Amino acid sequence: MKRRKLSVNLVGSIVPPIEVGAREVRRDDAESLARLMLEAYRGTIDDGGETLDDARSEVVKTLDGGYGRFDFVASEVIERGGAIVACTIVTYYQGLPMIAFSLTLPAWRRLGLARGGLLRAMARLAGAGHGIVQLAVTCGNTPAERLYESMGFSDVE
Ligand SMILES: CC(C)(COP(=O)(O)OP(=O)(O)OC[C@H]1O[C@@H](n2cnc3c(N)ncnc32)[C@H](O)[C@@H]1OP(=O)(O)O)[C@@H](O)C(=O)NCCC(=O)NCCS
Repeated sequence: MKRRKLSVNLVGSIVPPIEVGAREVRRDDAESLARLMLEAYRGTIDDGGETLDDARSEVVKTLDGGYGRFDFVASEVIERGGAIVACTIVTYYQGLPMIAFSLTLPAWRRLGLARGGLLRAMARLAGAGHGIVQLAVTCGNTPAERLYESMGFSDVE
């Protein structure tokens, strides 16, 4: 499937919304993140029929730096009632920060959780001195493309 590479400059003042349910990612979140990943992608253009085992492997690989160093400071999960319902995961690709995953459970969508998570991650990256953040999105993943475009991400040449 064709992928778009997008980036946005972390210039100016990013005003991240306060989210009391947001916290840093811990290694013992792996199982919850795997379930979130499986449910978030189910039925989307990126759904390749993966199993929970596949999702678990993907999450562990991400946490272990298989997609570039995992940024435990910039990344976050959002909890509701003690359960993780959304996440924003930042790793590094070719030395630049990358949004590896932005995921929201179907029942919690269109409430601004992904946008808020991205804004807080971007603010933390800017605070750490980064000037740009990048990501890749599958062409036709309309919710994600609209989300990123609405936040100023544009195609990398
Ligand atoms: C993409 C995704 C993370 C968005 O999560 P979300 O928490 O619902 O997003 P938000 O509520 O913050 O939406 C912010 C904006 O994104 C856009 N957007 C989100 N979902 C959309 C949809 N289904 N159709 C069109 N635009 C959409 C809108 O501009 C929205 O603003 P609005 O609600 O004020 O119109 C979620 O749909 C998801 O988990 N998808 C599956 C996993 C995935 O593809 N992740 C991205 C690639 S890693």
